[in-house]
Amino acid sequence: MRLTKTTMIAAMIGAITAGATLAETPHEMRSAMMKAQGKQLGILGAMVQGKAPYDAAAASAAATELDKLANADWMPAFPADSLDGKRAMPEIASNMDDFMAKYEALGAATTALVAVAGTDLDALKAAFGPVGAACGACHKSYRAPE
Ligand code: HEC
Repeated sequence: MRLTKTTMIAAMIGAITAGATLAETPHEMRSAMMKAQGKQLGILGAMVQGKAPYDAAAASAAATELDKLANADWMPAFPADSLDGKRAMPEIASNMDDFMAKYEALGAATTALVAVAGTDLDALKAAFGPVGAACGACHKSYRAPE
């Protein structure tokens, strides 16, 4: 019993340490946040594309989670000295107003998505397009190709 507990605690600390390591650098913060957005967008995209059955509750939940991520404060993950151009382009710092406008456009699109995601598939489809477009608009300008 004691051994099991110790093992569990060690595993938990390991998980916490791994989590902290993941978000250690701005790049890692960006990466974790973007991947989390991609996960929710993927759930919704599967429904939109008919690869998964439309599920109002699941669509609502994914949209709500995506909206939280999209409207979180991204700025701590984008300090100018971290924009090395590997993927996050240095142009972000020199075009901060435009970058912020693209960030805000995504936040507005996800908020509109939350309002209708649980209504029906047609409503989800209509609101999904602008979200994908908002992701793409920023990547096109500020994410370097691999
Ligand atoms: C305002 C700009 C902006 C918006 C909006 C944006 N992204 Fe990103 N995204 C970036 C930048 C910049 C990077 C590269 C970050 C890096 O590598 O340091 C990136 C990287 C990513 C990555 C790669 C993460 C990795 O490390 O593997 C994914 C996935 C991603 N974004 C998904 C999304 C999704 C999904 C949306 C919309 C829901 C979105 N992004 C909206 C700027 C944006």
